[in-house]
Amino acid sequence: MSGKMRILTSLVVIAIVVAALGVWIIRGPGPLDFAGGTKVALADYRAGKPTGVPAKLEKASLVERGEYLAKAADCMVCHTKPGEKEYSGGLGFKLPFGTLYSTNITPDKDTGIGNYSAEDFKKAMTKGVAPGGKRLYPGMPYPYYAHLDDRSLTDMWNYLRTVKPVKKNVTVNQLRFPYNLRIGMLGWNALFYDPKPIVADAAKSNDWNRGAYLVNGPAHCGACHAPKNMFGADKSPALTGTTLQGWFASDLTGDRNAGLGAWSVADIVEYLGTGRGSHSLASGPMAEVVENSTSQMTQADLKAIAVYLKDLPPSRGRRFRERFISRALAIIGYGTFQGWKRSSRRRRWASMTSSLRFAPVGAELRR
Ligand code: HEC
Ligand code: HEC
Repeated sequence: MSGKMRILTSLVVIAIVVAALGVWIIRGPGPLDFAGGTKVALADYRAGKPTGVPAKLEKASLVERGEYLAKAADCMVCHTKPGEKEYSGGLGFKLPFGTLYSTNITPDKDTGIGNYSAEDFKKAMTKGVAPGGKRLYPGMPYPYYAHLDDRSLTDMWNYLRTVKPVKKNVTVNQLRFPYNLRIGMLGWNALFYDPKPIVADAAKSNDWNRGAYLVNGPAHCGACHAPKNMFGADKSPALTGTTLQGWFASDLTGDRNAGLGAWSVADIVEYLGTGRGSHSLASGPMAEVVENSTSQMTQADLKAIAVYLKDLPPSRGRRFRERFISRALAIIGYGTFQGWKRSSRRRRWASMTSSLRFAPVGAELRR
């Protein structure tokens, strides 16, 4: 078979498998569907303003606003290799199909995003398409950032323009054939990318709506806490937890055992603000989230997140196994879990794909 034929055949096979699985994977309700009130566009929600920066930053400069949003969206963690310049990229994400590296997003013209226009930036952030039609892998959580409103994106853009340019080439994509073909993302996007806008719920408080927006938009909590299908895409029920890199990103619903049922709003605010609390101590990837993102958010925003999380219906009917794992993990610890994981191929695959986005190489070194 000629090289071209091989590529074509592979693509067709991949497309068929992906399509079949897409049909098989029943798309369940979204993370806001449980609330039954009248849904209105975010802009039409009269009780408050769920999008953008907190009220006290409303009059701040574009750059300050953008910086707050970039922190809430945690851009730095993924786009900074430990020990190197902020936002200069090069952090590797080990995937079952090779390694994906984050890009240099400093305003350097040759190696960063200095040649982007504001429109290019918005397209990369919300559509996952970089200039030149380069289709990004969802290791970049654009399915979440797709929910950012235009003003927030403009603020973020203005902030990123003020970062010190760093000349540093990053080989972004070291994935194996055929995963290195970005065109495959067309199929992924067709099946799993569902940017239907977040809406406000008129029956809920302003805190609730702000929290729903932050969790499911900029703060992309589900990127780690939503269960994943074998292609690394989120599946429902939303925010019920998943394994990533041997960590279990916990169930955030109101389930008393596996979730946050026993936590108060104040408990959640304390945990997100400090990484500590009476119920848990943030470690691993969550410690990084707290350090770089949630601890930088206002108390009001943390409260909003907590109010929304506390309203998520308890995840009854979750598979016993995963709930058991999350409990057992806490007791026996990570090492044992790694051993257990090696013992099961299917589990290993599930674990690897769930870490599709979040397996920073060298994260261990930083801990
Ligand atoms: C979970 C990790 C992660 C987070 C969080 C993240 N990114 Fe990314 N980003 C990546 C990876 C990985 C790539 C490379 C994707 C690829 O090569 O397809 C990328 C690519 C990009 C690109 C495309 C650059 C190009 O031209 O190729 C831009 C722009 C970008 N990110 C901006 C941001 C901004 C702004 C934020 C915060 C709002 C952010 N990213 C948050 C992982 C992340
Ligand atoms: C990069 C992946 C990642 C992201 C993004 C993330 N988390 Fe986590 N989270 C984790 C992991 C992993 C744990 C388990 C940490 C541990 O065992 O100490 C965790 C634990 C938690 C816990 C403690 C639960 C318990 O029962 O101990 C809470 C609460 C939490 N996360 C809330 C959030 C919220 C809210 C967001 C969004 C603002 C978020 N997380 C975003 C990975 C993540």
